[in-house]
Amino acid sequence: MHNTRKIKLVPSILAADFGRLGEQLKVLEAAGADMIHIDVMDGNFVPSISFGMPVIRSIRKVTALPFDVHLMIREPERYLKEFADCGADSITVHIETCSRIESVIRQIKELGVGAGVALNPGTSLDTLSRALPLADMLLVMTVEPGFGGQSYMEGCTQKIRTLRARLDQMGLDTDIEVDGGITKDNVDVVLRAGANVIVSGTAVFRGDLQQNAAIFRERFGK
Ligand code: DX5
Ligand code: ZN
Repeated sequence: MHNTRKIKLVPSILAADFGRLGEQLKVLEAAGADMIHIDVMDGNFVPSISFGMPVIRSIRKVTALPFDVHLMIREPERYLKEFADCGADSITVHIETCSRIESVIRQIKELGVGAGVALNPGTSLDTLSRALPLADMLLVMTVEPGFGGQSYMEGCTQKIRTLRARLDQMGLDTDIEVDGGITKDNVDVVLRAGANVIVSGTAVFRGDLQQNAAIFRERFGK
């Protein structure tokens, strides 16, 4: 059975047509997307480079949807304020990039935005122990970060389940976000495992956006 916490559809603009980004965001807003996922890559923590503040600042004007900024960058603390200032509603940092995660989470919260902590497929859940009581959201990467369009790594299902069980044991109702290779055909698996914030790039942006969003929402039982 699906849990009762709010299930959110969060399209990742990495898969958007950047020539029509504003227009596509409006379509997704009307189609019931809950947030917009924004992948920032530095060509260092991950091999690829995506986009940064100027893009975020300009799309801030075209949609009222909250911005979920996923920082795949080293030393993210250098840029937290800038991302908050250009329109982030939540900022997610990778645990692999933070030696003092409590302090980074505190800094994010002091900026008045939600604090997320992500971990790569190969990173143990044990690394999250200090983050668990503090984070607003935990992001389980279900592909190696860096590129859209990869296939969901099946081994991550158990990790989501274990994380949800740990949170339950601690009496925490923290959001679990999943990111990478999520499609209309496998979204049920991650929902059942305990995820409730669903990022999807390719499966939302390839083909008819409105129809894709509607199918996801149907899967959510909305
Ligand atoms: C991967 C990014 C993802 C990516 C997901 O590094 O963090 O957000 O855009 O894209 P799909 O859904 O195509 O795997
Ligand atoms: Zn992402």
